[in-house]
Amino acid sequence: MNSGDPAIPTPAMPKPAMQDQATAQTFAIPDNVYAETVTFVRHYTDHLFRFRITRPASLRFRSGEFVMIGLPNAVRPVFRAYSIASPAWDDELEFFSIKVPGGPLTEHLQRIKVGDTILMKKKPTGTLVLDALVPGERVYMLSTGTGVAPFASLVRDPETYDKFEQVILTHTCRQAAELAYGQEIVEAAAQDPLVSDFTAGRLKSWTSVTREPWPRTKRVTRAIEDGTLFAELGLPPFDPATDRVMICGSKDMIADCKALCLAAGLTEGSNARPAEFVVERAFVD
Ligand SMILES: Cc1cc2nc3c(=O)[nH]c(=O)nc-3n(C[C@H](O)[C@H](O)[C@H](O)COP(=O)(O)OP(=O)(O)OC[C@H]3O[C@@H](n4cnc5c(N)ncnc54)[C@H](O)[C@@H]3O)c2cc1C
Ligand SMILES: NC(=O)c1ccc[n+]([C@@H]2O[C@H](COP(=O)([O-])OP(=O)(O)OC[C@H]3O[C@@H](n4cnc5c(N)ncnc54)[C@H](OP(=O)(O)O)[C@@H]3O)[C@@H](O)[C@H]2O)c1
Repeated sequence: MNSGDPAIPTPAMPKPAMQDQATAQTFAIPDNVYAETVTFVRHYTDHLFRFRITRPASLRFRSGEFVMIGLPNAVRPVFRAYSIASPAWDDELEFFSIKVPGGPLTEHLQRIKVGDTILMKKKPTGTLVLDALVPGERVYMLSTGTGVAPFASLVRDPETYDKFEQVILTHTCRQAAELAYGQEIVEAAAQDPLVSDFTAGRLKSWTSVTREPWPRTKRVTRAIEDGTLFAELGLPPFDPATDRVMICGSKDMIADCKALCLAAGLTEGSNARPAEFVVERAFVD
């Protein structure tokens, strides 16, 4: 008999146990943590990779939210915040990760292989969500480095296109190779039959590289200030009547982008009080 049959009560299952590789101690997965399986890993550069894991049937999240993830390699695993890079409709979960040399999590996470276990706390959260923005004509998603991850989720979510006529993703990195993941996502959004009807002619991408030669070598903040961002996209400057902005990058990048939004008359929003722009750190310095 199928244990998923709703007519038959499912007996309480014993908690799965994990083996700590360092101490050979066995420990139970806490109630607030899922243990999921790696299904895909791709390395882009010496310090960037993406991976996918199975999705727990009970997980609900809004595109743009983050979760805490860890590895079962210690009795008290290190958990770090990670934006879910896949859209809410995807049957797996995707993440885009830095590799920090000696980083308590990523020193180990960068070595994961298909079939390995990832721990994930059950409660997704975050401010880079459509609910935190009031309606408008277009939404700008401004990102640097791994800050593109929450937008990889949002640009592939049809709800983004229900709410906004135009979606502009900007991604700035030090080196051109670091743009690859964002470029793949934009291409996937154009080709995936589940979203291409929404994205066609409505999703625009603007990329720049700041520390090696590239057709554009400006920070996005500079391109907003001098108007080249808008000129190159064929759009008017930020206007609180029509434009919404989501920002994800370093502390300094957020501060500078936020100042530009405020100067243009936009108001910062949150889940509790939706408004015209929202921010979230891509990492803690
Ligand atoms: C809300 C939120 C969402 C996040 N989402 C992601 C994500 O989707 N992908 C991701 O790779 N990281 C993300 N991070 C950062 C992540 O939580 C960890 O910091 C990162 O995985 C490194 O962990 P660690 O334990 O190896 O090193 P940590 O001890 O956490 O970091 C060491 C140092 O490395 C640098 N660093 C950490 N993360 C990054 C990064 N992403 N880019 C550049 N430099 C960094 C910082 O200088 C930091 O002080 C997010 C952080 C926050 C607060
Ligand atoms: N990415 C790498 O090559 C690399 C390699 C090893 C270690 N790390 C470490 O990882 C950390 C983060 O590196 P990262 O490259 O991911 O992130 P980052 O330093 O935030 O840089 C990412 C992009 O954001 C731009 N930027 C930085 N501050 C900005 C601001 N205030 N406004 C607008 N744009 C801004 C950068 O331009 P500028 O180039 O003009 O600063 C760069 O193009 C650093 O501590 C670094 O030492 C990075």
